Amino acid sequence: MHFQDELTIDMTHFSGEGWGIAEEEIDACKERIREAALSVERLRKSGKGPDGSLVLFPHLPYLLEEEILISKEERERLLALSKLAKGQDIVVSIGIGGSYLGNQVLFDLFCGQYWNLMTKEERHGYPQLYFAGQNLDPVSLLSLVERIRRSSQTAWWKHKVLLVVNSKSGTTLEPVMAERALREMLGKFCDVSVIAVTDKEKGALRPLAEKNGWPCFTVPDGIGGRFSIFSQVGLVFAMLSGIDIRDFLAGARMTEEACRSLSLSENPALQLAVRKYLARENHGVDAEIIMPYGDSLRSLGWWYAQLLGESLGKALTVSGEEIHYGRIPVAAVGTTDMHSLTQEHQEGKRNKLVQFITVRESREDAAILCDEGEERGPVPLSYMMRAAQRSDEEALAHDGRMSCDLIMRRCTPFHVGALMYFLFLTIAYEGALAGVNAYDQPGVESYKKILHADLKEYIVKHKK
Ligand code: PA5
Repeated sequence: MHFQDELTIDMTHFSGEGWGIAEEEIDACKERIREAALSVERLRKSGKGPDGSLVLFPHLPYLLEEEILISKEERERLLALSKLAKGQDIVVSIGIGGSYLGNQVLFDLFCGQYWNLMTKEERHGYPQLYFAGQNLDPVSLLSLVERIRRSSQTAWWKHKVLLVVNSKSGTTLEPVMAERALREMLGKFCDVSVIAVTDKEKGALRPLAEKNGWPCFTVPDGIGGRFSIFSQVGLVFAMLSGIDIRDFLAGARMTEEACRSLSLSENPALQLAVRKYLARENHGVDAEIIMPYGDSLRSLGWWYAQLLGESLGKALTVSGEEIHYGRIPVAAVGTTDMHSLTQEHQEGKRNKLVQFITVRESREDAAILCDEGEERGPVPLSYMMRAAQRSDEEALAHDGRMSCDLIMRRCTPFHVGALMYFLFLTIAYEGALAGVNAYDQPGVESYKKILHADLKEYIVKHKK
């Protein structure tokens, strides 16, 4: 199997006649590129990030073979989860940020928006699936409870609901509130059970789970939230929804093995990272539009926005100099947003690149009669969608605007695994090029202090 056939990285439109990133620019930072490649190589070997803390994401593709990130006992429980899932009516996956976004991608791509409207038979015995804890919004939480109440009222049996609480820290407000509320509210009319996916020992969820006898899966040390889709966070969810985790991990493995060379010409992830880095450093590109084509790929943009934003948006370099690195991530979707955002991409400030994501062979298709001038004939919708993306890319390039296209041959767990892991690597390489730590997120602590002080004040004020 050849990497570029399964996942094609098309970087043609980072430059054109008289514009964009010139080969001389790449040559001029050869030393820096070599250093960055070595730094990620060191990380792979040592399991340590630039500040010496544990970073183990390169082991994720091998999770089912190694015992670094999962014990033998836990792996067996993981692989047995589909049996447990089929005994449930409903699974609610609770979590936020890195403990949510990747699972939404898997659901959208492989279950689809009509999953909960299907019969259990049509879902091959798998339960209905919902998400909670990805917001503090009372409206969505209560409408979920109401939805489950109505669906259980129409059945003669008491519904079995499994709450899967994903929280590495166990202290994040949104999932903690959702778990408490759902356990209590749904417990009035359903059989509720809980699984916790959390840190091995730190944090608040593990002791709570142990006290209540809930089965636990581990978010391994050295795996940050935004890197957790190939860990127990994503794999537990995938097993509960019938998604092939071996295929998903095999895709990630293919990418890891195709993108580990120290040589720029043999490492597509490094090549893309270098171009994005130079776009920012030399061409004022401080925004990145991630634009997958196809409705079910929309949440991939949100997932990547977190990966890019939290990893590269840093005030300081690893050695402590002020840098304020990063690009503003903007999640969009084609063809929908060609009718809203494309105007700005085409004519607005020259500060952005567009990262297209496309699928070469559509899962489904329909040829529809199409009128173009005096010509009329059937055109497959998948062709129209690809043509629209190519036109967008070409129009941007005509005006000297940068883009790239990451093309999955098909949309399977294998190809999506390959793509998501490829995006991990581009971020790791770019972090090393820029000299920032791509694995921490100190900036999210500032608002938390203010928020928790506010909530404490509320509790004190309203205490009877
Ligand atoms: O990437 C991250 O670290 C964050 O998005 C976290 O995943 C998110 O804040 C949720 O944290 P936790 O899993 O501890 O509840």
